[in-house]
Amino acid sequence: MNFASGDIPSVIVVTGTDTGVGKTVTTAALAAALHRRGRTVAVYKPVQTGSAHGDSDIAEVRRLCGDVTAHAGTVLREPLAPLPAAEFDRIALPTVAEHARRVRELARVHDHVVVEGAGGLLVELDDSGATIADLAQAMDDGGTRPGVVVVTRAALGTLNHTALTLEALERRGLRVLGLVLGLRPRQPGLAERGNILRLASWDVPLVGAIPEGAPLLASEEFGASSAVWLAGLVPA
Ligand SMILES: Nc1ncnc2c1ncn2[C@@H]1O[C@H](COP(=O)(O)OP(=O)(O)OP(=O)(O)O)[C@@H](O)[C@H]1O
Ligand SMILES: [Mg+2]
Repeated sequence: MNFASGDIPSVIVVTGTDTGVGKTVTTAALAAALHRRGRTVAVYKPVQTGSAHGDSDIAEVRRLCGDVTAHAGTVLREPLAPLPAAEFDRIALPTVAEHARRVRELARVHDHVVVEGAGGLLVELDDSGATIADLAQAMDDGGTRPGVVVVTRAALGTLNHTALTLEALERRGLRVLGLVLGLRPRQPGLAERGNILRLASWDVPLVGAIPEGAPLLASEEFGASSAVWLAGLVPA
């Protein structure tokens, strides 16, 4: 498999094994850690759903990181997958090619663009069925290759979901930077302890873990700790 080496790429796609696994918190920590290294960072969320229920990953990133460039491509009201949410709102979704253009524009004026998917890797983002994996492939245009971070859980079931996600990335020839535990439990149970050890033993590196309770920290402390949490991803 195609693992990261060297410096962190300009475009980093944060995907996950499922919805609610900690992609946004990881995205915020990555943006904060890069910012503290003196890099300029933009965060891009191609499709945000659930706005009628107050869901906004961009607002969460801003809350945790302080002042950061953060944009959503399209915002939909219902907390559904992008296609049914767009159908509900009677909105035409932007194509993944359009998202790729936005990411390239942001990459021209920032050192890094961190792109957070919706749900897991193969969630359809546009009417042609293109996914965040297609967006990552579209960004692989002969310049620095984009890197993919896979956010995963510690709980039972995670080994299968993580292996499936890695296999799908490998099949597409995408560069995987590593796994991040979106929530490292304060008091892991038997299954969680065993899973964390298994994940750490795989070829793909476990590059970080966000401790339980991290989203409750004030942005100053969140930012100061973020590079420690993601020590395998953001070089000192
Ligand atoms: N390390 C953590 N400690 C405590 N709570 C956490 C942690 N990480 C995430 N959470 C909580 O779990 C929920 C889901 O996290 P998050 O929004 O980051 O997931 P996501 O993968 O981005 O979800 P989505 O698919 O909706 O974008 C949020 O309420 C978040 O505050
Ligand atoms: Mg999110």
